[in-house]
Amino acid sequence: MENEFQDGKEEVIQAWYMDDSEEDQRLPHHREPKEFIPLAKLSELGVVSWNLNADNWEKDENLKKIREARGYSYVDICDVCPEKLPNYEAKLKNFFEEHLHTDEEIRYCLEGSGYFDVRDQNEQWIRIAVKKGGMIVLPAGMYHRFTLDSDNYIKAMRLFVGEPIWTPYNRPHDHLPARKEYVDKIINRGGNQTVEAR
Ligand code: LAC
Ligand code: NI
Repeated sequence: MENEFQDGKEEVIQAWYMDDSEEDQRLPHHREPKEFIPLAKLSELGVVSWNLNADNWEKDENLKKIREARGYSYVDICDVCPEKLPNYEAKLKNFFEEHLHTDEEIRYCLEGSGYFDVRDQNEQWIRIAVKKGGMIVLPAGMYHRFTLDSDNYIKAMRLFVGEPIWTPYNRPHDHLPARKEYVDKIINRGGNQTVEAR
């Protein structure tokens, strides 16, 4: 399942290492020179992704298969843009606070685009740019943040296993079981213990 629907994925999902400038969060923040990251590296971090047909999501058999295989019983759709989201600037600021959830964060971009930033095993920020058709899953316990890009618009489907819990736990929340599991399974995998053993 995780390796299905790979065709053209690079067109809707791209990832790169971020610079550390304090400029507008909506800018791409590429390093100089640019350091793109293959999507395979994202799967090492537990991030799963697909390229789907966003024009036909209501009837899409591939989306249906993913939902069935992963138990995504809940869906809703939210528009994030200044006109449609109450307290837009404040919410955007909150989304950009580094946080984690105790469940997967599953987002499917139906229109527009946005940036999901995640930490790699060495605490470096990776920016994941998701465009129309891109669907990503950030695993439970992974620190991340979200921002719109300079186009200021995303229509995203949110999915969840069962009743949704959107609670963000801002960093640090290292004692949560979901975080410990993520660290054990992903960060410390392959004998890379020194990084998080502080
Ligand atoms: C969320 C994104 C903003 O938690 O990370 O909805
Ligand atoms: Ni989140």
